Amino acid sequence: MATWPKVLMGLRMAAALQGAMLEVARRSLSGSLAGRCLADLRLWDELHAQSRRGTDHTFDWFFGYDEVQGLLLPLLQKTPAAGPARVLDVGCGISGLCTGLYTKCPYPVDVLGVDFSPVAVAHMNSLLEGGTLCPGHPASRLHFVQADAQNLQPVATSSSFDLVLDKGTWDAVVRGGHPGAYRLLSECLRVLQPQGTLIQFSDEDPDVRIPGLEQGVPGRTVSVQELGPFRGISYFAYMVQGQLKD
Ligand SMILES: C[S@@+](CC[C@H](N)C(=O)[O-])C[C@H]1O[C@@H](n2cnc3c(N)ncnc32)[C@H](O)[C@@H]1O
Repeated sequence: MATWPKVLMGLRMAAALQGAMLEVARRSLSGSLAGRCLADLRLWDELHAQSRRGTDHTFDWFFGYDEVQGLLLPLLQKTPAAGPARVLDVGCGISGLCTGLYTKCPYPVDVLGVDFSPVAVAHMNSLLEGGTLCPGHPASRLHFVQADAQNLQPVATSSSFDLVLDKGTWDAVVRGGHPGAYRLLSECLRVLQPQGTLIQFSDEDPDVRIPGLEQGVPGRTVSVQELGPFRGISYFAYMVQGQLKD
């Protein structure tokens, strides 16, 4: 059975949905997909399949790359000798965040998008293979792989990313319980460089998210920046530093 907190959370996130994806979410909330939650792989395969049907485009939860490039670009400027900034987007879905970074960032970036949905990863790989995405810098790279963000061992070594992005993925994983969300968080921090930054983009209020994050990442600096409003909704960027506090 879908519980009321799950349904209410689903309704709140549904505000960020459009078109076909909204129809699938509506069915999810009204009963035909009852008992399934936003941590369920099969639900995500269905949502991604609906929203990409017959299209070669991306679909973003909350907002897209353009809305946050001002926040991201200063974090991606590295000395040329250091090589491209390495960026990981956990639960990338079929979002334009990775493709926006690859095609629009003027600095060299090596971007990896991971999602546990094979439907999402196949869609993003087909966009990449379509050959229409031109890098914003000649040294930039973009890859997508299927992986469970709660266990990134098969795809990412420790301390290997300068920037880890989570746009709506904690929000989905936490619907399956906090242990899963903390495994996600712990993996994001394992693969993050000590000088790096993890950013969670969410519509969840700071009075809920910050205590949750501080509990999951004791000894690290957590900060928040309000974003938007975009289409009338305010969002938040929750930033966790890779380095432990002194
Ligand atoms: C709310 S959507 C956000 C998608 C994308 N980041 C965006 O902003 O449009 C959550 C995403 O997390 C993915 N996801 C959920 N649980 C996951 C897990 N354990 N490992 C990897 N991806 C997961 C879903 O497939 C979905 O693409």
